[in-house]
Amino acid sequence: MAPTRDDLHLSGGAPAPRIRFGLSAKLLLLTVLFVMLAEVCIYVPSIANFRLAWLSNKLAAAYTAALVFDAAPQIPDELSRQILDSIGARALAMKLGQQRRLLATTELPSEVLQEVDTRDMRPLRAIVEAFRTLLVARDTDLLRAVGPAPGGGQFVEIVIPEGPLRSAMWIFSRNIVLLSIAISAISAALVYFALHYLFVRPLYRIAANMASYRADPEDRARVLAPTARHDEIGFVERELAEMQRDLANMLHEKTRLANLGLAVSKINHDLRNLLASAQLFSDRLARLPDPQVQRFAPKLMRALERAIAFCQSTLSYGRAQEPPPDRRPVALMELVEDVRDTLGLQPDSRIGWITSVERGLTVEADRDQLLRVLVNLARNAMQALESRAPNDPTRDQIRITGRREGAVVVIEVADTGPGLSAQAQAHLFEAFQGSTRSGGAGLGLAIAEELVRAHGGEISLVEGTIGATFRLKIPDRPIPLHERRGERAHA
Ligand SMILES: Nc1ncnc2c1ncn2[C@@H]1O[C@H](COP(=O)(O)OP(=O)(O)OP(=O)(O)O)[C@@H](O)[C@H]1O
Ligand SMILES: [Mg+2]
Repeated sequence: MAPTRDDLHLSGGAPAPRIRFGLSAKLLLLTVLFVMLAEVCIYVPSIANFRLAWLSNKLAAAYTAALVFDAAPQIPDELSRQILDSIGARALAMKLGQQRRLLATTELPSEVLQEVDTRDMRPLRAIVEAFRTLLVARDTDLLRAVGPAPGGGQFVEIVIPEGPLRSAMWIFSRNIVLLSIAISAISAALVYFALHYLFVRPLYRIAANMASYRADPEDRARVLAPTARHDEIGFVERELAEMQRDLANMLHEKTRLANLGLAVSKINHDLRNLLASAQLFSDRLARLPDPQVQRFAPKLMRALERAIAFCQSTLSYGRAQEPPPDRRPVALMELVEDVRDTLGLQPDSRIGWITSVERGLTVEADRDQLLRVLVNLARNAMQALESRAPNDPTRDQIRITGRREGAVVVIEVADTGPGLSAQAQAHLFEAFQGSTRSGGAGLGLAIAEELVRAHGGEISLVEGTIGATFRLKIPDRPIPLHERRGERAHA
């Protein structure tokens, strides 16, 4: 049974799939089949019962006749024939003690083929014999049926042709078939409607919604509205709605990021040109003999070079791709000074700067990348402290510590600011998620984490400190075995 037009427009006009031999049709057919099967199971024993009951009826009549013949042995032939005819038997006998008495007979029966003792009949045998009568026996075949006898008699027996029994059994079978058809039609219709409303219609609704959702998965209005059902269909609806909602949100986020990516590419493109002109100016600046200029100009040039290279690689790959770290021993103390210069924190600044790095400590890292990590962390600290302006260098401080612990260098960037907000903590190191600062992109910590991870190190927020403390652990570069052997040979 194919879905109707009504079924096809269950959810906002989205067409449901075209189905030729749908669930409803299958269910209908199966129901008819199962009911028929059940009827067959009922029919087999009941036809055997019917046969026994029919014979028992005849024997009950024979029992009454036996009473009459016993009481009045001199019954005229005509009457005894009439009695036998009314039973439908050819002969009637009764066994008394050792003696078997023929009470009446219309003709002497020829060969009797079958015997049925209604007093003792096994169910399986009754079934086999019933089908024999029904399918194999001829109308003229004779059957000897034995049943209980009146008075002191052992049993009553009659000889009866199988024809009438067979016809009665066929009529019974036909009635059963008609009844089965009626019952299966009614129950199939009931099951069909019940399943259609409980199961098939909700399925069409879900399918139609899926088709409509697929057409525009970003449209949150197309997310399935689950019904209040508590059964499996309700469960499926709720799970599907949840999945669609998540997917819609995810696609939204992806589109937003794609737009952002495009915007970044455009900005990058022009920024690269601006940086190139800045590089020209700084080139000229570097020629001034002023010692301060001589100190900062090379740093400015390097910073501009890095910026241009970064813009270039972002444009070429379509994403900010970090080169693998070029790890060399870096003097941490000098690097920390560069961080301070980059942030523009002079000794007379309103924010205190404390460096506590072990003497001569070197860290095996990509200098530029580690500088970016520390600048990001220290800039966050500075911004957090500046949010409490006016600042006081004895209260508002940034402290950078560095120490070696075996093969790992531990660097901490701590401040005495307000600490991280709950939102920033919940999305720590997630790009675009944790920013609570107006004008903040929420990228600084994510970039720092990515760069530290590229060094095989880790970054974490230290718990239970005043303000915020970020701890970096940078392990030494693993030395390949052959290099080590070379070192030993040199020694
Ligand atoms: N030292 C700190 N003290 C207090 N809050 C901090 C500190 N460091 C980071 N945060 C919080 O974590 C958030 C995320 O920092 P992150 O550097 O990733 O992004 P941002 O500073 O907002 O933007 P930007 O991408 O420009 O760095 C900040 O908005 C801030 O709320
Ligand atoms: Mg930041």
